[in-house]
Amino acid sequence: MQAPDVHPALYVLLALPILAVVLRARRGPSREKIIKPTDERVVLLGSSSGVGKDLAFAYAKRGAKIVLVARRASSLEEVKAQCVALGLKEDRIIVCPADIRNPSDLLGVRDAVVNAWGGLDTLHILAGVPSTRTLLQIAGVDLVPEPRPIVPRPRLVPAEDLAWVGPGGAYHSATHLPTARGLEAVAAEARACSEINFVGTVLALAAFLPVLCVSSASPAIHHLSSVAAAIAAPSRCIYSATKSAALMAVESARVECEGAGVRFFSLLPGTIDNEFRTKTPWSQNGGNCEVEKGVKAGWTEKLLLPPQAVVDAILTQLALPPAPYPVIPYPPFSWVPALRAPPKSTFFLPYMYKLATLMALTPLGYLYVEPNARKKYGLRP
Ligand SMILES: NC(=O)c1ccc[n+]([C@@H]2O[C@H](COP(=O)([O-])OP(=O)(O)OC[C@H]3O[C@@H](n4cnc5c(N)ncnc54)[C@H](OP(=O)(O)O)[C@@H]3O)[C@@H](O)[C@H]2O)c1
Repeated sequence: MQAPDVHPALYVLLALPILAVVLRARRGPSREKIIKPTDERVVLLGSSSGVGKDLAFAYAKRGAKIVLVARRASSLEEVKAQCVALGLKEDRIIVCPADIRNPSDLLGVRDAVVNAWGGLDTLHILAGVPSTRTLLQIAGVDLVPEPRPIVPRPRLVPAEDLAWVGPGGAYHSATHLPTARGLEAVAAEARACSEINFVGTVLALAAFLPVLCVSSASPAIHHLSSVAAAIAAPSRCIYSATKSAALMAVESARVECEGAGVRFFSLLPGTIDNEFRTKTPWSQNGGNCEVEKGVKAGWTEKLLLPPQAVVDAILTQLALPPAPYPVIPYPPFSWVPALRAPPKSTFFLPYMYKLATLMALTPLGYLYVEPNARKKYGLRP
């Protein structure tokens, strides 16, 4: 019997997947191969609650060496006790009550980890505070009757009227203009958020970067940013501005430190299902939490991220091989060092928020992203 005639092109086609596997450039070892999880020395700035606390538990289960940092000493002790209950030996936990705004506090944390373990491998900058009201609400201008907390969009009106057109076209008189006290409230909230979210972040970078570089085989910094740092967030005016400033600081430091071997990574999550939104810049409660108020029942909840998903995303990203990898992983491109890049420095969670940032560059930003952002926080779409 004669074998059927096979066109040579078919052989080439069949060989392509094999060639793709054989010729594809190999990735370097994962970070967990370079630093064993049980050897990893981790500093968690902001670990008395929320994501920092959840990360501490994850590291405790892996047997890492951890430094717990935040202002509330008693909460840190509770986190330590829970880490011990999870099986982490007590001598692998350092509790360091500190305020991220205070340079000498940060140097105290740095000295503690250097003296105990000779340095650190991973720095997490998690500390942050929310601001959950619109700018005009902070200024004491609340034109809107309860229960629908809708702040009208100010329109241009003749200067002599000194008034705004409110919902339904109604005029609001000059008594609705912010007073000096209102503006002082805006300044106080902006300063409080900036001091922690932005100044705290740059202080942490400056305090830890050099020691991180010299003491770790694979140094890494994770900064817990927010979608609000990249997409305009109504009722988060001050918060999103300060998170944006911090993200730019971390990204700029990354560009400045190119070649030093540090992996910089910022996670930009959406709303996480924890207590953050119920807080103010000054206290553990009193925040204008849209979920608690039931402003958008069934919609906001759908968007809430489980805290474990956030922890998993952070640890997965940090475990990636840190070595630059060819942008086109096939010869001859893979042989050119100038065509290699390290793992991504920013990551949105869920990923659809990345698409929203791209939409925001087009008219779809105005037509789709912004009305939905207003809707999410109970403002008029
Ligand atoms: N939860 C969300 O929906 C969400 C979404 C996106 C991004 N994020 C970001 O995630 C980060 C962590 O927030 P979270 O959700 O885990 O809420 P959280 O439970 O309020 O955690 C904030 C942590 O920061 C610490 N902290 C605040 N001010 C500090 C200061 N001056 N010095 C030292 N530590 C300080 C707090 O501890 P002490 O009060 O004891 O100091 C606490 O441990 C924040 O940066 C936030 O912007 C949160």
